[in-house]
Amino acid sequence: MLYAFELSGEHEGLPRKEILSCLRLTGFVFREHACLDQCLVVDIEGDALDTDRRLVSVAERLAMSHHIIRVAGICDVKAEDIISLAEESDLSGHIAPGSTYVVRAKRIKHYGEGVKREDIEGKLGGAIFRKGHQADLRSPDVSFRLVITDRAVFGSVVASIDRSSYEHRAPHKKPFFYPGVLMPRVARALVNISEVKPGEVLLDPFSGTAGILVEAGMLSVHVIGLEVRRMISHGARMNLELFGADHSLITGDACRVPLKDCSMDAIATDPPYGRSAAIKAESLHHLYSGSFSEMYRVLKKGRLAVVVSEIAVLEYATEAGFSVVDVFTQRVHRSLTRTFTVLRKD
Ligand SMILES: C[S@@+](CC[C@H](N)C(=O)[O-])C[C@H]1O[C@@H](n2cnc3c(N)ncnc32)[C@H](O)[C@@H]1O
Repeated sequence: MLYAFELSGEHEGLPRKEILSCLRLTGFVFREHACLDQCLVVDIEGDALDTDRRLVSVAERLAMSHHIIRVAGICDVKAEDIISLAEESDLSGHIAPGSTYVVRAKRIKHYGEGVKREDIEGKLGGAIFRKGHQADLRSPDVSFRLVITDRAVFGSVVASIDRSSYEHRAPHKKPFFYPGVLMPRVARALVNISEVKPGEVLLDPFSGTAGILVEAGMLSVHVIGLEVRRMISHGARMNLELFGADHSLITGDACRVPLKDCSMDAIATDPPYGRSAAIKAESLHHLYSGSFSEMYRVLKKGRLAVVVSEIAVLEYATEAGFSVVDVFTQRVHRSLTRTFTVLRKD
């Protein structure tokens, strides 16, 4: 069964990576069907109703997508093709007899400029009406969605991502704030890419105000944070307590982690870069080489560490023993480019 994920477009590669990681950690058997501009189509094996139900929990984890859509059909971006697609598709798997519906269309960038949004919504609505259903714009039983990108993707919405919940956790709205914090959506994507599951343990050896740990804690993950500055560590505790995260905080040095070898299920972290955040080490070089070798030591075999940095970390990571799974860059502003590095302990 094909499912489409409408991506947020806030980064070229991270939203796709986040989805694939969440599908893997949820235990889906799937393959990528098409990677369109801001729309990833995935073929998932198994019973459709059970898949829909499990995708609702995937939506609760995701940060960089808008909607998950069960695909009824994909065609060229031409009005007549889109309308025939809706007319000819068997929609009985999407809408039950007597159920009401609404149709919404979303244009990505400049695609399908000849296809008028309101017009196509009306025509698609008409096609569904002729199959014996009533429209209800206010509280429909089923929302049909058309994504107009390099192809037209039409289907019913299985789940939507509550992106506003991330705004409520913006760093300045938390009890303790300190500059240099990742935004919650980025922090959540890191946690997802680390493939940590509920009930497992995630470490952030540079926990700061616990931005990453709060996001992991909300997924029923036990979080462990290490922070060298006592005052920040106290603030991190206030933030974690507000969100009810099951946590352990240690005031200490990321180059000497007081945890057993191979004891962590995942690591997600953003080490200090040497500009905005204070470095507590002989030098940046010592801090990175010491902390990467500690991350490698405490992580379980086969598991992932995701590191965000302003400097290149590949050499430190590979020297510590990690293999590199993926590297993404993000230009934040003129003088700041972040690198997201996904590492595995083989
Ligand atoms: C970029 S900030 C992390 C921000 C964090 N993700 C948050 O949500 O606030 C890096 C943190 O590493 C801490 N730090 C610096 N040197 C350290 C060391 N040797 N061991 C552990 N933490 C250290 C800094 O005090 C700072 O809080």
